[in-house]
Formats: sequence, C-alpha cells, structure tokens
Amino acid sequence: FMLLSVGDGRLELNIYSYFRDLGRRRCNVAAFMPEAAGFDGVSDRSALQEFSVSNSESFWAAVARQRLSWIRPFHTVQDCDLSRGEIKWFVGGQLNVSVNCLDRHVHTCPERVALIWERDESGSEVKVTYRSLLEMTCRLGNLLRRHGVKRGDCVTIYMPTCPLAVASMLACARIGAAHNVVFAGFSAEALAERIRDAQSGTVITVNQGVRGGKVTELKKTVDTAVQSCPAVQQVFVAMRTENPVAMTARDVAMEEEMLKEDVVCEPAAMDSEDVLFLLYTSGSTGKPKGLVHTQAGYLLYAALTHRYVFSYHDGDVFGCVADIGWITGHSYSVYGPLANGGTTVLFESTPIYPDPGRYWEMVQRLKINQFYGAPTAIRLLLKYGDEWVHKYDRSTLKTLGSVGEPINTEAWEWYHRVVGDGRCPVVDTWWQTETGGICISPRPSDADAEIVPGMAMRPFFSIKPTLMDTEGKVLTSNDVSGALCIAQPWPGMARTIHNNHQRFIETYCRPHPGYFFTGDGAYRSKEGYYQITGRLDDVINVSGHRIGTAEIEDNQCAAVAESAVIGYSHDLKGQGVYAFVVLKNDVEVQGAALCQQLNNMVSKKIAKYACPDFIQFVQRLPKTRSGKIMRRVLRKVVERDLDGVGDLSTLDDPTAVQEIIQGHGDLCGKQP
Ligand code: WTA
Repeated sequence: FMLLSVGDGRLELNIYSYFRDLGRRRCNVAAFMPEAAGFDGVSDRSALQEFSVSNSESFWAAVARQRLSWIRPFHTVQDCDLSRGEIKWFVGGQLNVSVNCLDRHVHTCPERVALIWERDESGSEVKVTYRSLLEMTCRLGNLLRRHGVKRGDCVTIYMPTCPLAVASMLACARIGAAHNVVFAGFSAEALAERIRDAQSGTVITVNQGVRGGKVTELKKTVDTAVQSCPAVQQVFVAMRTENPVAMTARDVAMEEEMLKEDVVCEPAAMDSEDVLFLLYTSGSTGKPKGLVHTQAGYLLYAALTHRYVFSYHDGDVFGCVADIGWITGHSYSVYGPLANGGTTVLFESTPIYPDPGRYWEMVQRLKINQFYGAPTAIRLLLKYGDEWVHKYDRSTLKTLGSVGEPINTEAWEWYHRVVGDGRCPVVDTWWQTETGGICISPRPSDADAEIVPGMAMRPFFSIKPTLMDTEGKVLTSNDVSGALCIAQPWPGMARTIHNNHQRFIETYCRPHPGYFFTGDGAYRSKEGYYQITGRLDDVINVSGHRIGTAEIEDNQCAAVAESAVIGYSHDLKGQGVYAFVVLKNDVEVQGAALCQQLNNMVSKKIAKYACPDFIQFVQRLPKTRSGKIMRRVLRKVVERDLDGVGDLSTLDDPTAVQEIIQGHGDLCGKQP
C-alpha cells in the first residue's frame, strides 16, 4: 500500500485490479460452493478441485456439516483402510435419511413438488408434494413397524417406478430397515435368489405393472418367487391397476392398511455406517452380489454429485429416466434430488411409447431442466429421425446427461445438436453401483471448459483416478491406457458385499492393494482427460444393464454339455450376447426349436434382456491345455478379427477354432 502513494498511476491500477479479481474469484467460488470460503488458499474452481483431492477429509467434513441434518454430529470424518476393505465415514454421527430427504424440506416449503410421476399413460402425470410424500412415508413406516419390521431387517421392493416405491424406500430408511430394490423386469427365479441372499422377510410389490402399454403380472411373479423363500412372512401389495389379484394369508393390501396409520412416524436415529440399502448387481462369476451402501456417506455423495454435475438449482425439474431398480434410479431419481429438496421425475414408460417423441413431449409438458438417460435409448431414437425431437419445445433443458455405457460420438453429437439444440452441455457420467454416485464427468468445471464428445473427462471432487499397467504399476504419464482404479476412498463407495466381505476384498481391493479397482479400463488423453474403454472382466453391458457371462452360461438345460457366452459390439444395445453351445452327444434336435428353448430358460432364470442374440452350436470350445475356455479367441472370431486370434499353440485342439469360424460365418449369414 506504500506503493500506492508513489503516485504511479499504472501500478495503482494493477494492484487495484489484482485485488478486485482476487475478490471476485473468491466470491465466485464461494457462490459456487459456500463451503469453499472456509478452505485455505481456495480462490477458484480448479483450486477447489485440488483441495478436495489433497484435503479430502476437510472437504467432506465441511460439506457434511453444511448439507446434512444430523441428530448427533460425527466425531471422526473417515476411518478407512482400502487395502483391507474397511471403509467408514462420519463416524459417531447419527441421522435419519428420510428426515434429510423429507422433513427438513417440509419445514421450509411443504407445497413444493417432490415427485412428478410420469405414468406409462402419457399425459396423466401425478404430482406429489413434499408434505404428501412425507405423509405417505410415515404411514408406510408405521405399517411396516406394526407388521414387525425392525431396525436392521431387510425389505425387498419389487415395484415399477412410482411414488409408492419411493415412499417404500424412504419408509425403510425412516424405521432403520434396509431396502433391497429388485428391478421389476427380473424373473421369479432371479427375484427369489435375491430375496434369499438378502434374508428378507418382507416383500413390497404391486398387483400389476404397466410399461409400454403392456401389463405384467408382478404379484404373480412374487407368488412364484416366495414359494422358494421360506423366510418371507408377508407381502404388501399396492394397486397399480384396478384389476384385483388373488390374495393369500401372507398378503397385505397396502393402501387400505396405510389409511389406518398415523401420518407421524418417529424417525430412527441411525449411525452413519448403518446399512441403508443392498442392491444386487452382476459380477464376473456366478452369483449376483448384493452391494451394501450406508447412510450418511451415500446420501451426501448422491446429493453433492446431483447438485454439481447437473448444475441443479432450486426450482429446477430433474428428469432421470432410469428405473428405480438400478443404482441410477436410487441415486438420481430418489436420494440425490430429494436430499437437495428438488423436484424429480419418476419415469414409468419407455422411450418409444406411445411413439418415439415420448421423452421430448414429456420434456415440454413437465418443463424438464436436466435430462439424464442412457446411450442405448439415444441410439434408438436417433434412428427414428429428428422430427420426433423438433416437434416439441425443449427450451427448458439446461443439461443433458448420459450414463451406463460408453456413448459413441454419433449418439453424443445427435444428443447435443438435435436434442439440446447445441445449447446444453452433455455430461457423459461414469460410475457404478459400487461407487454410489458419479465419479468422472465433464462437469463440474468452468462454464466454458471444453467438453469432448464421448468422454467422461474430469474426476468429481475428491476422486483420484489412477491407471495401472498390466504389471500393476501406476501409469503416471498421459496418453496411456490401463486398469481404472481410484486411489483414495470417497463417502459414496460401497462398503461391502452382503454376507461376503471376502468377495468384496477380492474383487475390489486385492487386485491393486491400496486402491479401489473398478473392473473398467480407461484411457487418459494427452490433456489428462479420462475415457472409459470398457470392462476388463467377464461382465457385459446390454443396453446399459450389467450381466455376467457366467450367469447366462450357468443354466440347467438338459441338452447342453457346456457353453461360453461373450459380448459383442451391437448397434443399438451397445453390446449383444453371443452364446457358443456344445450339446450333449445324444441330443438330436438343433436349430430354431432349441434356440427358443434356451432363450426361454435364460429369460426365466434372469430376465429378457439377458437372452442371447446369437446361439452357435459347436462340437467343442477352444480350450487351453489346462481346460480354460479361451474367450479371447471366441471374441476375435465374433468380431471377425481373424488376425487377432493370435497364437493358438496353447490350445488343446486347434481345429476347434476352424470349426467355430466356419459356423460363425454360416450363422451370421442366416440370423439378423
Ligand atoms: C459402465 C451404472 C462408459 C462401466 C451407473 C461400469 C460406463 C458399469 C459409463 C457400471 C460411462 C457406466 N461410460 N461406461 N459413462 N457409465 N459404465 O453398476 O462398465 O449398472 O463399470 O452402474 O457400466 O454399471 P452399473
């Protein structure tokens, strides 16, 4: 300041503008995230990002105090040891997730719309305010309690996306029970397996589901499932349609009984690390695994990513079209938006019902500000042409999101140019059931920061992506590809696999000790941006749905000796399912009838989406001398990359490959 009195006009001006800019930047970053005002040396967004990574504890402590309502404050921010798979956040703290999602908003704005239920029947949406969602949740919480559901019990929810499903999730959270939502497209067998593994004594369902104009018999599926689940004592049945269903002694008419309950329900004080929910997903070996998410860390991570990745602001209408049966539905249709006091759309229908304009007509009618969907749907709609988009007013849209699988450049460009009229940032968000929320995404970043089509690009706050080479060494340079790991724990990560912590450690912690291994491969560009290259294990991704090849192979068809299932690149679905099947010696029938039979089995055991697109019958599978099926070889055959088949000298019987190449050519000439 002495300098100012020297009277050098230029210097004075420079110093003035230096302090003015500094002030502005500080002010900007605090306006962007109020907590940043308390972080030392954080004056702009890139400093905030760095701070969140190198001072992750201070970052999350401040955010947790600011953004969650605590019954009792936490005393320890985190207590984690990634190498042992021990993850704890906000230790000592107590809270109730339903209070965070409902009560605190009812205090400030009871009449704000929490849910817009976009029913299958277009134009018949139902709005639910925070006040009425709290009432619904409380009645349900009381009902569950009256029927003996206790803190720590697990309730399975087999319902389409609808307000009662959300209220069921929140009612569990209110009374301290864990929920286990099972996608309503899963078969009775798949449902039963998940009910048993979760040791669930209570199931919530609806009489019938309605999707794309078709009715599905969900209650009947539950009836079949619970026959092999002796622990199930009660099934609550809500009415999605007016058609009555047969009720047994175990069944409870949900809405009727809810009416008898009080609209006030005492929330349970839950520890930060108590279980909030299980969600089953496919792994590379046989059985699906029930990933466990806990209370505070999960909720906070879902809320913060929802707020910042999509730039969600008060009053916006958020449209995530995922089903609540998947993690995307959990984090971005339910928990993230509700924790933020937002208005969230529950989409019950399909992208092409009643016609391919469904999404955009809905955007216009509901005035949606952020739209979050899957690449497979974008690719499908792109084929129907631009008119279906142009017909509707999309001027409310501010951000477009993509999730679940890689989005190819053509689909990305179309989403950006046609759907968003070139105005809206498109965020390709990478994450997993295991990560709880978005980990890599082009936003948040500066408003004018570049976005590269088809790239997730930038790590979210506190996320430290690391690439490993095949020897397990950290790759430090840019323009490299490797196994994608995350180098430090974050609050949203899964804590364990239900009843199988050993599998959790082996899958995620052991491959690269000290790191969380994602199972995906990634490329880091010259600029340092991340692009996901796909799974490194035997998990395939069909229309954004994960499925383990082993789950499909593991079927009990009497005619089949053995089989090998692989994923191949598919125009619409991202990946299709290709099955190589070896029949038992004495089997005569082949061809269409047997294909049909195998498809039915897969659809009965898992779900329709897991059915093979191609079934090729072969005499034998290519194997190593130690008897391992060489999937790499099968993949190359299906990709028609015969040069890539590589060294066959380790094969037990190289002629098997010749036969397979021949058969593949014949088959793909015939089938679509
Ligand atoms: C894949 C869905 C490329 C990935 C939220 C991951 C993606 C798996 C992307 C998780 C993306 C998800 N780009 N691939 N933006 N997002 N994936 O558990 O292989 O159903 O491991 O969670 O989907 O699928 P999940």
